[in-house]
Amino acid sequence: MGKIDPTSPVPKYFQLRGILLELIDDAELPVDAPIPSERELCQRFGLSRMTVRQAVDHLVTEGRLYRVPGKGTFVARPKIEMPLRLVSFTEDMRARGLEPGARDLDHRTVQANANLARVFGIPVGTGVHVIERLRTADGEPMAVERSQIPATVAPDLLDTPLGDASLYDVLEKRFGVVFDAGEQTIEAGLADAADARLLDLPRGSAVLLLQRRSFMNGTCVELAVSTYRADRYQLRSALEIPR
Ligand code: GLP
Repeated sequence: MGKIDPTSPVPKYFQLRGILLELIDDAELPVDAPIPSERELCQRFGLSRMTVRQAVDHLVTEGRLYRVPGKGTFVARPKIEMPLRLVSFTEDMRARGLEPGARDLDHRTVQANANLARVFGIPVGTGVHVIERLRTADGEPMAVERSQIPATVAPDLLDTPLGDASLYDVLEKRFGVVFDAGEQTIEAGLADAADARLLDLPRGSAVLLLQRRSFMNGTCVELAVSTYRADRYQLRSALEIPR
């Protein structure tokens, strides 16, 4: 097990954070296991209570540990890596061995305003289907998704409720939509009251705001604006060497 190096320029709380992370990554502290008490950590690493608390607070904020009032502090599940490929929620969850689910929040057809008309390359006032769903993994809320699809592409899409079905699957099987390109932006945000309630988070919690445009033959067919739980998702990307 790692040791605290008192001569290191790295603050002691950050060193302890690193040691605890190693124990978590090596599964010496498995998911949902309690971490040693503050007192034990102080004794084992020769640190003050304040330093130990700072390290633990840091890991709680990062979502690597969670507290249960009156019980202690436990190891959280690892975060899900946000896919940076054009996959559906359903495919992504299944690939991770999680059961995808969806709860219909709203579905309606609106008239394209100037912005939607520009994005989809359709005349202003043309129908656009809006589908809002809460996406779940093994029953746990993960994201609120708001997808917009031009009605010309999938005319009677809203006639049959989607339920738990994959939107991309339905678009492909019923309407022959096969996406061949996509673009996505991801921004940090704070959950508003409505999303916080749906995602089972305290209001104002950190979230990831995704905006995806999916294309077929150079035409945008889906504009989705989604709110993902930042305590369950993280981003990882390969870094290219500049040449
Ligand atoms: C992802 C995307 C959404 C898309 C959804 C489709 O989550 N962010 O833009 O609508 O996948 O998923 P499914 O086919 O499972 O409904």
